[in-house]
Parts: sequence; structure tokens; C-alpha cells
Amino acid sequence: MKRSHHCNQLRKDNAGSPATLIGWIDSLRDHGGVFFLDLRDREGKTQVVLDPENQTLSELFPKLKPESVIEVKGEVRNRDEGTENSNLATGDIELFASSIIVHNQSKTPPFPMDDSADKVGEDLRLTYRYLDLRRESNLNTLKLRHRASMAIREFFDKQDFLEIETPILFKSTPEGAREFLVPSRMNEGKFYALPQSPQQYKQMLMVAGIERYYQLARCFRDEDLRADRQPEFTQVDIEMSFIDREDMYALIEGLLSTVWKETLDEEITTPFLRMPYHDAMNRFGSDKPDMRFGMEIQDFSEDFRESDFKVFAGTVKSGGSVKAFNAKGLADITQGELKHLEETAKSLGAKGLAFIKSEGGEWKSPILKFLSDAEQETLKSKLEVGDGDIIFFAAGSWDSSCNILGRVRLEAATLLEKRGQALRDPKDWKFLWVIDFPLMHFEEEEGRYVASHHPFTAPVEEDLPLLESEPKKVRGQHYDIVLNGVELGGGSIRIHQPDVQKKIFEDVLNIPADVVKSQFGYMLESFEYGAPPHGGIALGLDRLITILAGKESIRDVIAFPKTQKGQDLMTDSPGTV
Ligand code: AMO
Ligand code: AMP
Repeated sequence: MKRSHHCNQLRKDNAGSPATLIGWIDSLRDHGGVFFLDLRDREGKTQVVLDPENQTLSELFPKLKPESVIEVKGEVRNRDEGTENSNLATGDIELFASSIIVHNQSKTPPFPMDDSADKVGEDLRLTYRYLDLRRESNLNTLKLRHRASMAIREFFDKQDFLEIETPILFKSTPEGAREFLVPSRMNEGKFYALPQSPQQYKQMLMVAGIERYYQLARCFRDEDLRADRQPEFTQVDIEMSFIDREDMYALIEGLLSTVWKETLDEEITTPFLRMPYHDAMNRFGSDKPDMRFGMEIQDFSEDFRESDFKVFAGTVKSGGSVKAFNAKGLADITQGELKHLEETAKSLGAKGLAFIKSEGGEWKSPILKFLSDAEQETLKSKLEVGDGDIIFFAAGSWDSSCNILGRVRLEAATLLEKRGQALRDPKDWKFLWVIDFPLMHFEEEEGRYVASHHPFTAPVEEDLPLLESEPKKVRGQHYDIVLNGVELGGGSIRIHQPDVQKKIFEDVLNIPADVVKSQFGYMLESFEYGAPPHGGIALGLDRLITILAGKESIRDVIAFPKTQKGQDLMTDSPGTV
């Protein structure tokens, strides 16, 4: 059983030569007694025509079913003039079959093997994922993922990185996402935990003197799933010694340029823009702003401090913010759409979503009667309100007003796109470093500070004196790489001094000393044996490929993904033991 060519290989030059192809029957056609079939393999398709003189083949043809695996021997022939197919790489030729072996006859598949299957329920496609993956678009995504991984590995190899595998059976640690636990047979009552990331191991590799480490690392988090989250996913995980933030920016810009070049043959512009976290929140209401369109948020707190509209004035007087943005051209919003935006805002804790429409030269709003002429004038000039626009407001704490309008801004963009505006071109690559994150934030529920990223992130040097007095004001040496509203990755320069790390754990994050000792004791100890200054980052490989492939969900770029409920429908996992 040997093929002479794959199904995307034969050309006019091969005409007159014998060939053997093996593959799946893509389609069958009976043209008035002349039998055709398209044979498909991983690489492409070739048309096969059966020798009409061959009795055996003529009797076999009606029994053949799509998706069966067959082996065809025959002679390559040029297609008759006028019957070439310019949409197919092999469209100038066909294989004139003299014999066919059926290796495996297929049942009728539950959905077609082409793009029309996109309309079939995802659950059915995931149950038969081995069929779903036969479809060209899915196959191309797996190929793209392979290309990207190869480009990444070659890039790091050239830069003297070592790829090192770290354990999957790790231990439970506080301060992170919820973990998956694995009972230990040989140590009764004890558990491993699957790693959320190789964070601690990669830092130990730096103490070990590895200097430059990377890994395409499988990570596990027992989180609620969304389009951009899976319980197991892959990180391009990186750690380096003797570097600062600038080195990391340059490295990742080089890496992503290489990946874009090798996969899409596109040049991206470097260096990437940088934006402090506070600006990102203030202007876009998000720590992962989509910069492909404007409609930026502005602050009106001072303008409404003495307003007759008590909702706004009261919020400002109690220390909150009033923010607004202009959804340009969305004044024709329907009642249903408005209600949806209101519900979105409310799901984020808003009490309401005040708005003003500018329509037919007139401003219309339930709150207009409360606003003075001066207030209206300020809104008009700052937000450049024109006819057909609509302003949305959020009044509340700084965080929540930013967050709410950040989400409404994105929803408004979706509504404008439905009306034919092209706001977010998928090929418009707006990379961005978000920097100067607060090192920690106060978690109301826990009544204590928690690390914004993780507790190993080094504070910005000049903020160190504020660590105990005003921890909220301390910035971390943390950076996120963002592309078109997606957090591709994040990392930081790490603490490498045992006293600073201990202080963060015990005095700032309030983790009891005995917990610090049992959970992180080895790490603190290792820092007493010549720990180099170091830092790193991890990129979500699945999210990266999703963007490169122009897909909606990371499920589309993982060979065997889990559903929203964390199930593998094909193998029926998880199952009872
Ligand atoms: P972080 O937790 O920010 O950092 O994760 C880094 C990147 O991993 C991706 N990611 C995910 N992708 C798919 N599904 C998930 N559930 C998921 N969770 C995270 C994201 C994210 O930006 N150890 C640190 C990195 C470091 O400091 O070096 C870490 O894991 O793209
Ligand atoms: P009220 O006077 O409370 O009925 O509110 C008047 C308008 O302001 C309504 O459209 C509410 O949805 C809206 N609104 C109320 N509270 C807020 C808030 N915190 N932020 C933005 N809009 C609000």
C-alpha cells in the first residue's frame, strides 16, 4: 500500500504517467454513465475518472460512499479542454482509474465535510471531532498552529534559549486560579495539583543558572470557561536572567514579528505602543483595549460635581466618577438593543445606563431636563457630538464606571458593525503593551490585598517605600501584551531578594507565616543561594493562533477542545471511575 503522490501534487507535467493515490472520497458524480469521484487527502483533492470499459469498476461505483478510504491506480491525463477547474491546484488533470481498492467503506457522516457544517451544532461536531477535523478549514488551522509552533521554536533556538519540560504533577499553591487535584496513591491523603503555569519551576531554573528558558507548556485551570478560556491550554512560557523590561519588550516584539512573517507573510510594525494601565482604563475602560476604533471614554466628574442631576452629583461627592463616551452614529438604536446594553451595564453592577441621543438637530433623553445648558455644551464639545450620535454615561466608583463603559463601548461597536460600519478589521494588527499595573488590589471579599498578577512580581523600584504605607499605589514591574482587545500574554520582572519576597507574602498579602513557609519556603530558601535578577512572560498560544487563523473561539484551534462545561464529548470525559 504505497501512494506515488499525494492528492495535491499531480500537474500537467505528469500527464501520461502512472500514479497511485490513497485518500477519502470527497464526492461522487455520475455524468450519464461516466463515473467521476474527487479523492481527498490532507494536502488537497484530485479528480478521478473511472475507465468506462472496466466492468469491475463500473459495478463498484454505485456501491462507493463518500468518506470511504480507497486506493486508486491509474494514468494521469490532461482534462478535456474546457473542463479544467482553475479553483483546484490539480484542476488541469485527472487520474484515469484502472483499479480501485476499498480499504474502509464509510457510513454516512452526521454532517457534510465542508463549510456548510459550520451551521451544524458545535456539540455534534465535537462528538465526531475526528470527522470535523477532516474539513479543510480545520485542517488548515492545525497546519497554521504547527507552522507557528515551529517558528517559535526556531526563533528561541537562534536566541540561545533552552526548551525544558517542567512537571505536570505539581502541588497545590495558594494565590492563583482554582486547581485540578490528583490523589497520590503512594502518599495516602496527599494530592498533587496540575500546574496553572510553570511559574515556580521556571524561576527555579533561573536560580539553577539556565539563563534563558522557554517551553510550549500545557497549563491547567479549573475556571469557568469562555470563548477565550479552556481548562487546559498552552503557554509559550519564557524566563530570562539579567534582563529588564525593555529587553522583554524587544524579545516579544521580535518573536511576534517572526511568527507573523512565517505564518501570514505579513510585516508588523515595531516597537509596539505602550500605555499605562490607568490610561487604558480611563480611555478604553479595559486593561486590554481594542485600539482599532475610537469612541474613547472621557471623564466628566468635575463637570457634574454641582449638577442638578443628583445621580451624577451624588456619585462625584461621594468620591466616585462620572464617565461618558459618544457612540458615533448609533442614535438609531432600537429599544431592544438599548435594553440589551442596559442589561450588560447592570450585569457589571451599574444602577442604570443614562444616555442622550442627538437626532434631527435635537437632544433627546430622560435625563435632559436635569442638565444645565452649560453641562450640555461641555458634553457636546468634549465628545464632539453630532447628529445621529448617542452618549452613554456611567456613574459609580472609578473601576466600575470604567469597566461598564468599556463593555458598552465594545457592544456599541458590534451594533455599529451590524449597520455596516467596519470598525474592527481583523487584519488591522494593533499591538499594545499595557504597563504600570498596580502591584496589588484590595479584595473586598477576602478583606485583604491580593497580587494583581502573581506574588512574584517585583515592585517598581521607586515605589518600594510605599509598600507598607500605601500598598495600593505601588506599581508592579508587570507587562501585558494586548492585541485587538485580547490579552495575548503577561509577565513581569520578578523579585529575587528573599527579604522583599517574604515581606510581600507576609506583610502585604497577609499570608500567614506558616503557610508561606510550607508553600513557598523552598523558593525563599533558593533565593539565598545566588538567585540572579530575572523576569519572564507567558503568551497564550491558543489565543495567538485564534487571532492568526481569524477564528472566533480558542476551541476552533485546539484539536480536541472541551465544551463550556469542561467536557470532551468525543470520549465522554470526565467520566465515573
Ligand atoms: P497569566 O495567568 O497571565 O500569566 O497567563 C498568561 C497567558 O496565558 C493565557 N491564558 C489562557 N489561555 C487559554 N485558556 C485559559 N484558561 C488561560 N489562562 C491564561 C492568556 C494569558 O495572557 N506565569 C504567568 C506568566 C509569567 O508571569 O511569566 C502566567 O501564567 O493568553
Ligand atoms: P433615575 O433618576 O434613577 O431614574 O435615573 C435616570 C437615568 O439615569 C436612567 O436612565 C438610569 O438608567 C440612569 N442612571 C441611574 N443611575 C445611573 C448610574 N449610576 N450611571 C449611569 N446612569 C444611571
